[in-house]
Amino acid sequence: MRLAGLGFAAVMLAAGVAGALGAERGMAQMGRGLAETWCASCHLIGNEPGDKAPAASEAPSFVAVAEKFDAARREALATWLATPHGKMPSLSLSRAEIADILAYIETLGGAPGR
Ligand code: HEC
Repeated sequence: MRLAGLGFAAVMLAAGVAGALGAERGMAQMGRGLAETWCASCHLIGNEPGDKAPAASEAPSFVAVAEKFDAARREALATWLATPHGKMPSLSLSRAEIADILAYIETLGGAPGR
């Protein structure tokens, strides 16, 4: 009975870890969609073949943003994205949307395994 319980706990733990990784990926996908909708008019938002830098924009590419990504910077960007910048329209991104966008930008960072 106890062992069966432990086995169950182990399975739930494994499922939890897989779920967390899946969630991380899902967030990045959501973030990509949000970036396409709200950010691509000014920012080069990715490094896929179809991604093109908008003409005459001084906005940094998200790859450039991702290159200097760390925990402190992530924190600062979350704050930064909570308010409009440049001529960025007031989007009022929710905290969840900001987290999704940052998860997406983070995947552009070129760290091993990404
Ligand atoms: C109307 C144009 C415009 C739109 C739309 C826009 N941005 Fe920007 N963004 C800029 C400009 C211009 C800069 C650089 C100048 C500045 O700092 O204000 C910038 C800078 C940034 C930076 C760099 C901040 C830093 O500290 O280096 C990030 C991150 C960023 N934008 C994210 C976003 C995200 C995410 C979206 C979509 C939700 C978005 N931007 C939409 C124009 C825009």
